[in-house]
Amino acid sequence: MDVAGKVVLVTGGGGGIGAGMAEAFAEKGAKVAVTDINPAYAQAEAERIGRGTIALAQDVTSPESWAEVKAAVEARLGAVDVLCNNAGIALPFKPMEDISLAQFDRVMAVNVRGVFLGCTAFMPEMKARGSGHIANTSSVNGQLPHQTFAVYSASKFAVAAMSEAIREELAPFGVGVSILYPGLTRSRMSEGQAPDLPEEMRKQLSALMMEPIWLGRAVVRAVEDNRLHIITHPDHLPALKARIDALYAAFGEPAQPGYIAGRIPKG
Ligand SMILES: NC(=O)c1ccc[n+]([C@@H]2O[C@H](COP(=O)([O-])OP(=O)(O)OC[C@H]3O[C@@H](n4cnc5c(N)ncnc54)[C@H](O)[C@@H]3O)[C@@H](O)[C@H]2O)c1
Repeated sequence: MDVAGKVVLVTGGGGGIGAGMAEAFAEKGAKVAVTDINPAYAQAEAERIGRGTIALAQDVTSPESWAEVKAAVEARLGAVDVLCNNAGIALPFKPMEDISLAQFDRVMAVNVRGVFLGCTAFMPEMKARGSGHIANTSSVNGQLPHQTFAVYSASKFAVAAMSEAIREELAPFGVGVSILYPGLTRSRMSEGQAPDLPEEMRKQLSALMMEPIWLGRAVVRAVEDNRLHIITHPDHLPALKARIDALYAAFGEPAQPGYIAGRIPKG
């Protein structure tokens, strides 16, 4: 897809990776709407990016908010060609038993329900039009879970799984799906993730952060080429390979002796 002149909606675009995406699409001549639960964040980024970028308030966990945003973007920019479900939240690094049910529910609501609502709000009309693209922000933790980040990792696995499944559903209709798997990237979330670190270590951590515009440009290229996986931090490859190798190694004989696997009929 040539993104010039296309309408792009980026959720959680009031900073960090979403703002990088919005800027990268605007650079290519797209008409961009950024939404955020904090409207002041969205407004500030829309003004910084310029090129007609508009800002809207949105809570991605609310179906009503999705309906309002969809109507507002259509009225001001036109039908959405590219949807970037990027809004997300993290939790402090903690053993899982120290995460409350309310924290679990909130992470799942924003990171998983939000992506579900976004996709389902736009899938029917993209299918009907026979064009469109959905880019969902997972995380490197969507392939590599790690200790003290169990709930966040689970939410990002869910984003990756949902995205791969709907890529198959949408491909026959000419609609593309991509998954962004960021590693450490500069944002309010990442800068605030370890507030108790000593100042010197915070500076070292900050120096390791990728700048969001580069993730944005990677997303634009993936949308242009209709590629599924968007890897921006290839340094995680050895860890991913070790995880996949362990999974491969677990494939041996069927648990039931003599079991013959058949093909499950497609319904
Ligand atoms: N920064 C990283 O290192 C990193 C790494 C991997 C994945 N990610 C993912 O990237 C995405 C963007 O995060 P970021 O790092 O740019 O952080 P960020 O905090 O700067 O951006 C997320 C934005 O989402 C908004 N938001 C939160 N709840 C919302 C809701 N209910 N409705 C609408 N907007 C809401 C926030 O106000 C914020 O502006 C997230 O999905 C995050 O999980 C980030």
